[in-house]
Amino acid sequence: MSADRSTGTVYWIDHFVVGTNDLLPWIEYAECVLGGAPRPVSGLTTESRLHRGPIFCFVDVGDCHAGAFLQQNEPLPPTRGLGTGLPRYGFFIRQEDVERQLRRLDDLGVLHAEAVRTGDLGDDGTSIVFQDPDGNQCELWAPVRMPDGAMDHATSAGVGRISHAVLESRDLRRTTDFMESFCTMQPLGSGDVRHGVLAYGLAGGGRLIFQQVEELETRTRGFTRRGGLHTALTVQADDFLPTYKRMWDALPEWDYNSRGGRPAAGEVDEAALPARTALHGSGAGRRWKELYGRGDDFYDWDTNCYHLVGGVPVEGSMAHYAGRYMEDYVADVFGKAEMGD
Ligand SMILES: [Fe+2]
Repeated sequence: MSADRSTGTVYWIDHFVVGTNDLLPWIEYAECVLGGAPRPVSGLTTESRLHRGPIFCFVDVGDCHAGAFLQQNEPLPPTRGLGTGLPRYGFFIRQEDVERQLRRLDDLGVLHAEAVRTGDLGDDGTSIVFQDPDGNQCELWAPVRMPDGAMDHATSAGVGRISHAVLESRDLRRTTDFMESFCTMQPLGSGDVRHGVLAYGLAGGGRLIFQQVEELETRTRGFTRRGGLHTALTVQADDFLPTYKRMWDALPEWDYNSRGGRPAAGEVDEAALPARTALHGSGAGRRWKELYGRGDDFYDWDTNCYHLVGGVPVEGSMAHYAGRYMEDYVADVFGKAEMGD
């Protein structure tokens, strides 16, 4: 792990959320393929339906979690295909487990590519690309060098922490400026973006990778017809608020979803919007916006949506951390009894 520490250093990808057009098969996939443990499905109460709340489920995958939000405005667009569509999210597996994982994917009927040894995205290891029932792109990643803590609480399927996210960028130099302004990360390799890839190493483990594209696939939260999709980045707990304040000083607020409801299809040219912050559509996110007048979601120039998670180091190391989520920070101010949802 890096010995350097400056405000906003990103240690891990804490969780991510993809879209689904059919939630129950996605949960079954996450249980069987990832070995995850589903939390209760949210949004299936009369109260929630009266308010058209989101319908979603998070699945614990070892020390991480992954979520799927049912898309309620329109179906997800077709994937661009196995290994081609983006975003793509990976999980750590062990090198010695690659053959067993391939057989497991076959046995489960998962569409996957063959195992490939690669160093193209800033790290050396073996990749197995596959896709979930909704065509969301996924990967099992067996690095040559496993980061501390990446496999310590692996699932029964042999799947560890989130290893990386590959996101779209139409301008890697602009993405570099954005990421280096707000998130302290180490460019991998030469940091040379001429080959269409920008890869950052995270201080705990894993990577955040941007791939040059001409046109966005639109499986991202920046498209207002999508619900829930995002990537959550872990910083140290006491960096949480200072990092947001740095963003708020530099970025505009996107108020479209603070007013309730969504723009009509075609009303907003999302791909043309600048980097920005915005309301996170949870109860805690709304309280946070009341408190600071700013949202805790942030968007880059390519419609990718993120938020921060605070990590409290365990035994002095961010190899393991106790996560502090927006609910916890809001409860610090308002008290848990007033938190609501
Ligand atoms: Fe989240």
